[in-house]
Amino acid sequence: MQEKVAQIIGKYNNDKGFLVPILQDVQKEFNYLPKDVLVAVCAQLHVPLSRIYEVATFYRAFSLTPRGKHQLSLCVGTACHVRGAPIIQDGIERVLNCKAGQTTADLEFTFETVNCLGACALGPILVVDDEYQGQMTLAKANKLLKKLGKKVATDEED
Ligand code: FES
Repeated sequence: MQEKVAQIIGKYNNDKGFLVPILQDVQKEFNYLPKDVLVAVCAQLHVPLSRIYEVATFYRAFSLTPRGKHQLSLCVGTACHVRGAPIIQDGIERVLNCKAGQTTADLEFTFETVNCLGACALGPILVVDDEYQGQMTLAKANKLLKKLGKKVATDEED
């Protein structure tokens, strides 16, 4: 882990001015910002740990808790809600066996709900690993989960 951190920081010439991109690279590597890694970043960059936490908690893209390899964000804003987002949410929660806002035990998926992604005409919208998927249905969501390696029971597929 120390080696990986040194490698990431080295890419930015040990310059603490690059703290945000350094943390972005750390998150890409570990899928979140583990505490021991942040302590290592703090030691190598000579930045107070409090400053690192300040940055890590300011940006929504950073996570201090483990995140799954795949990120699923379902829009539950009004337009998506009336077009069936709650049914999709229930189905995804059942297949992943985790509630919105949680990460699966195998760290494969993080599922969350969001409010309006600004593309209401295409709703319901499910964002899968940063890719917007419009006019989502439960069947389509299950197909996507299957494609990402999740076992979906046959009776869940339609
Ligand atoms: S309510 Fe879902 S995109 Fe606007």
